[in-house]
Amino acid sequence: MILYFSATGNSRYVATVLAQALGEQTLVDLRPYMKGGAAPLTITLSAGETLGFVFPVHSWGMPKYLAEVFTNMSIKGYVAGENYTYMLSTCGDDVGYLPKQWNRVMQKVGIATDAAFSVSMPNTYVLFPGFDVDAPAVSDRKLADAPAAVRRIADRIVAREKGDFTHRGSVPALKTNVIYPLFVRYATSDKSFRADADACIGCGQCVQSCPVGNITLTRRNPGKEDKYMPEWQGRCLTCMACYHYCPTHAIGYGSKTKGKHFYTCPL
Ligand SMILES: Cc1cc2nc3c(=O)[nH]c(=O)nc-3n(C[C@H](O)[C@H](O)[C@H](O)COP(=O)(O)O)c2cc1C
Repeated sequence: MILYFSATGNSRYVATVLAQALGEQTLVDLRPYMKGGAAPLTITLSAGETLGFVFPVHSWGMPKYLAEVFTNMSIKGYVAGENYTYMLSTCGDDVGYLPKQWNRVMQKVGIATDAAFSVSMPNTYVLFPGFDVDAPAVSDRKLADAPAAVRRIADRIVAREKGDFTHRGSVPALKTNVIYPLFVRYATSDKSFRADADACIGCGQCVQSCPVGNITLTRRNPGKEDKYMPEWQGRCLTCMACYHYCPTHAIGYGSKTKGKHFYTCPL
């Protein structure tokens, strides 16, 4: 079984390629479980089944609200040492100590972790100064290299290899233990998201793409020309899905998105 979360498509694609390589039938999209008030996830494993978690790294840690999904989930049939458990993170560059964080979360639900992997994919984070999506040549190269990288990971999973095989990058403790908590606390507000009234066509793509159900379409100009525009409701992980998927690029985040570019996984 593979459980996956993806905001802009990279992790969905990687989970799909992995499932094909492993002959895995069960792929579970975790987005419905990340919405506020969603029922907890319940899964049942068969004897010896492998259990994979595929998701993007956010600021060298787990996407906000995802750890909650895992700590609230109920897993039936799990036997340590018989079921093999791994995480696979997609990342633009590096994941820091994300595997350690994931281990701690899994410990809370009584799961022993066996292996951690990462795959380089096009970057989607654009809100820090100097951060933008990758140049087309870099993005194309990452997308071209990903399937073979995922198949190598699949071989390790089949062989039930144990260990941390992620690309950790420099100063992982600083990134995961210091920057990540600051990011979650101070950099995941939706207060600066706005749709440009001229560019927004009220199509609702932002509502569809938001993994946590944080966007509603609200009627503007009642009585005059009807116009529906997105409003953010305060439960955001700044995954940037609304920004990247908007077909008219109407959504911005104050001055932080000025001159920045867009990306969603084309595969
Ligand atoms: C909020 C946020 C934080 C991110 N932080 C990191 C990071 O710490 N390291 C990294 O290499 N990539 C980082 N990225 C890039 C994503 O991990 C990467 O593009 C991922 O493949 C996106 O997956 P998705 O399309 O499945 O959502 C970040 C992206 C977002 C939106």
